[in-house]
Amino acid sequence: SGQKDPKSQDAGQKHFGPVVCSTCGMIYTAASLQDETQHAQYHQRLLESIRYVGWKKERVVAEFWDGKILMICPDDPKYALKKAEEVRELVDSELGFQQTHLNFPSKTKTFLFVSNERKIVGCLIAEPIKQAFRVIPEPIPEAESKNQDALERHRAWRCSSDPEPAICGISRIWVFALMRRKAIASRLVDAMRNSFIYGSHLTTTEIAFSDPTPDGKLFASTYCKV
Ligand code: ACO
Ligand code: ZN
Repeated sequence: SGQKDPKSQDAGQKHFGPVVCSTCGMIYTAASLQDETQHAQYHQRLLESIRYVGWKKERVVAEFWDGKILMICPDDPKYALKKAEEVRELVDSELGFQQTHLNFPSKTKTFLFVSNERKIVGCLIAEPIKQAFRVIPEPIPEAESKNQDALERHRAWRCSSDPEPAICGISRIWVFALMRRKAIASRLVDAMRNSFIYGSHLTTTEIAFSDPTPDGKLFASTYCKV
């Protein structure tokens, strides 16, 4: 079932260090019963949540050699909304969101990247907004500026206090851990900019990322430069 790295089994020795599941991406300790149980639970939930069986009516907003992007709107059939919610719950638990409500459920659009293997490997949730606050880069302390890792992960940043007009807020963006850095998030944002408002194309200054994580910030700053 792909739950364990086969190589760690071949040698005939018990594996005690951390293992990365090649299916769900979870890192756990194979020799720990608690970890194995936690992994089994996570593994099953993830596979269920990202499984896409195919719908009679699906709204494909972009197609690629490695998958397609679907858009789900508030008035769509229940099965589509249910799937969008299931993926949102998974994303929220990965992002550590406690309060998992949407500001405007009746205006929210969900974009799902479905792989050729029929797995939902990316998700973007977009909501209408009226204004946003630009992120102002903070000067990085001298000591940290030499360490590339610390630089990349630098968390100090603040927001301008002058609101600027904006149209669409990305309330959540997520890509399956084993599929990152393949431009899936970039393609989700591209598709959202073309489809959020019918017949119009949003510029990068008309979109905003709500409360981004360090990963989200690195992605957003790269994406918005293009
Ligand atoms: N570190 C450094 N640069 C990055 C990173 C990163 N972790 N992620 C993206 N970038 C930059 C790179 O320049 C990248 O281009 P490259 O791969 O050619 O160097 C460029 O952004 C485009 O990246 P994508 O491949 O399109 O992004 P990806 O599909 O990997 O998804 C995402 C990025 C969504 C942030 C992913 O890392 C993720 O799901 N992280 C965990 C969940 C999360 O933190 N989401 C953001 C929450 S904030 C919010 O939802 C508003
Ligand atoms: Zn797993």
